[in-house]
Amino acid sequence: MNKLIAIDFGTSNTLIHSKEKGIIFQEPSVVAIDNNINKVLTVGNEAQQMIGKTPTNISVIRPLKYGSIDKFDIAIRMLKMMIDHTKEGNRFSKAFAKAYVLVGVPSMITQVESRGIEEVIHESGAKKVVLVKDVIADAVSLGEDIFKPKVSFIVDIGGGTTDIAAIALGGILAEESIKVGSNDIDLAIIQYIKKEYNVEIGELTAEHLKIQLANVIIEKEQFMEIIGQDLASGLPINLNMSNQEIYEAIRIPIEKICSSIKSVIESCPAESVADILSNGIMLTGGGAQLRNLDKLLYQELGIQASIVPSPEYSTINGLGKLLDHIDTIHNMVIEYSPYISRKDLDKTTEE
Ligand SMILES: Nc1ncnc2c1ncn2[C@@H]1O[C@H](COP(=O)(O)OP(=O)(O)OP(=O)(O)O)[C@@H](O)[C@H]1O
Ligand SMILES: [Mg+2]
Repeated sequence: MNKLIAIDFGTSNTLIHSKEKGIIFQEPSVVAIDNNINKVLTVGNEAQQMIGKTPTNISVIRPLKYGSIDKFDIAIRMLKMMIDHTKEGNRFSKAFAKAYVLVGVPSMITQVESRGIEEVIHESGAKKVVLVKDVIADAVSLGEDIFKPKVSFIVDIGGGTTDIAAIALGGILAEESIKVGSNDIDLAIIQYIKKEYNVEIGELTAEHLKIQLANVIIEKEQFMEIIGQDLASGLPINLNMSNQEIYEAIRIPIEKICSSIKSVIESCPAESVADILSNGIMLTGGGAQLRNLDKLLYQELGIQASIVPSPEYSTINGLGKLLDHIDTIHNMVIEYSPYISRKDLDKTTEE
């Protein structure tokens, strides 16, 4: 029998799950390449630690953007190395060649984008690839019976996209996927500090500020020291940032996420809205952990929102559960056009 594998191939993180062993790989979707010899040096955590510290011959690349493949060949090379680096070692790499792989993808993905993900998994060795929307996997991981006439409302805030969906009777009632994710909050922090202080900070520092200091409801002023580069002198400079300033910095992406949630609720059939009110909004994905986001949504929408336990694992856990029900998922699988050529894929990834 083919080996059954699930992959959450995310913009920020890649997780691999085997049916027998559970999660066997979980590292950032980052790859370091030596341009002189065109060789992949490392992937995952090691590559992420190199960000902003590389000599000119080394590039550190995130081959996924907004949940889709941005750099096709680099994505294949990254995934191949990840497959070689799982806890299962060599045995897993060999078994992957005969694997049936379930992959999570953003909602409302185009056919070219879904074909791109499918091709990357195929070219990395898999025999059969099946795509399932992340939000479906998220709902399954929460133990929701998605085949019942009861609405689950999922908001998955990943690094690259926020996927919002109302799910019932094995399908999607209303959905939206916006190209605004938690990485856009990091970017907003970088831009704010550049504009207000003429200081450049790196993406890891911005992410650190988001995780440690950012808050979307300020109850008490808090501060954090960071080091950036003064753009006037080129020298290192200390900044003491407040959570109030970070709140200002991240307001626009947060507002975009809130207004998209509102518009999905508005487009739900009237009967389902009562279900959403009683069951609440389930916040998942790593970005759901932004401090007080649940309270902000309650203030804005009057609907309880709760952050699911271990939100960064919900897609992979749901895909893992779906591996046990391969026969029942055929109507949840994303179809793609087999007529999109490799040439079209290369064209879109070059843009
Ligand atoms: N405690 C936290 N507070 C706020 N954001 C966080 C926290 N922990 C992780 N994140 C953010 O979550 C994001 C990663 O989430 P996740 O792993 O769900 O994304 P992904 O699945 O790779 O992306 P996508 O689904 O968009 O392709 C990163 O931007 C990270 O900075
Ligand atoms: Mg995700």
